[in-house]
Amino acid sequence: MNHRRLLITGGAGFIGTNFVYHWLQNHPGDRVVVLDALTYAGNRANLASLETQENFRFVQGDIGDRLLIDQLLSQEKIDTIAHFAAESHVDRSILQPGAFIQTNVVGTFTLLEAFRQHWEQQKQPSEYRFLHVSTDEVYGSLNPTDTPFTETTPYAPNSPYSASKAGSDHLVRAYYHTYNLPTIITNCSNNYGSYQFPEKLIPLMCINILQGKPLPIYGDGKNVRDWLYVGDHCSALDIVINQGIPGETYNIGGDNEVENIKLVEMLCTLMDELAPELPVSPSSKLITFVKDRLGHDRRYAIDASKITNQLGWQPSVTVEQGLRLTVKWYLSHFEWWQALLSEDYQAYYQQNYQK
Ligand code: NAD
Ligand code: TYD
Repeated sequence: MNHRRLLITGGAGFIGTNFVYHWLQNHPGDRVVVLDALTYAGNRANLASLETQENFRFVQGDIGDRLLIDQLLSQEKIDTIAHFAAESHVDRSILQPGAFIQTNVVGTFTLLEAFRQHWEQQKQPSEYRFLHVSTDEVYGSLNPTDTPFTETTPYAPNSPYSASKAGSDHLVRAYYHTYNLPTIITNCSNNYGSYQFPEKLIPLMCINILQGKPLPIYGDGKNVRDWLYVGDHCSALDIVINQGIPGETYNIGGDNEVENIKLVEMLCTLMDELAPELPVSPSSKLITFVKDRLGHDRRYAIDASKITNQLGWQPSVTVEQGLRLTVKWYLSHFEWWQALLSEDYQAYYQQNYQK
């Protein structure tokens, strides 16, 4: 396809922001429309440098607003949806699951219905795409000796977040099988990098180190996650949009399994080396074990051989390189993260860590 016209939902969030920059750098002739409700996790300022660009438009709105979606699809002649918008944080889904069902399940359904109607009105062009960005958490939890998740691992979500993402995955799959809508699903492991909201593990630890606050490790700290640098996720999604086969699912992972406690120790070492001065040094003195997350999944690991073998993608950044880049980004973006430590953030923090 020569020039795509993309609707990027959730483009003011962590991965969405990185993806918008990635796409416009790699496809400067394409049109990008970002639709984002600007929840606590969305930040329009992330995209400020693009707002004067002619091929970029930001729209504040909800994926559940059918009228708005219909208007955008037809006015902007959208041929590709990259669907990132979601409630995305497991801890928040434990405290308040309702919004997860509304956005992740009902919102995705609304978007699918609107895109189906739009695609049918255009006489079902085969190059249209609906990319649904999902998570490895839909597969549940692995034991230490289990083999990593493949695309055929049965779904077994354990949190309201992963259950709502699993529900949306099933709808996306059904729209391909029922209507032949050209949908593709990706299930990715834990991302990290620039613009991640400071309630997820890596930014939270960086910011707490800079503030001399305790570093709360859930349970025994031996839960394992497979970490992927966000830039590598964006390059995988680009390949999937352009070369992926409709109806297929692709697992995306970093092949970087690390225990939480090891990861936090690596961050402490990097902070001690790179930060000009720290309130508490060495920062590992701040590590504090706290009550475990309810239903905490023990281990996630992704087998990404399908996307590597079929589409030629592989991660380019090791966890050591990626963490160094990430720590440097948070050190050079004080204003960005300080603006997010609002009353709402403090209230969430109190509720989550003093439960
Ligand atoms: P995020 O929480 O940082 O961003 C989500 C964005 O969606 C925010 O900008 C928010 O304002 C917007 N949004 C929320 N509800 C909306 C609604 N109803 N309508 C329109 N916009 C809405 O999330 P993220 O970490 O960037 O994740 C993006 C996607 O990738 C999610 O679908 C998530 O499930 C998936 N994913 C994330 C990870 C990860 O490690 N972060 C890993 C795998 C998959
Ligand atoms: P998180 O970044 O919330 O991602 P996810 O739950 O989607 O994997 O958490 C990553 C891991 O870090 C997870 O095992 C929970 C753990 N964790 C802590 O130990 N302490 C914390 O304060 C947070 C936010 C997470």
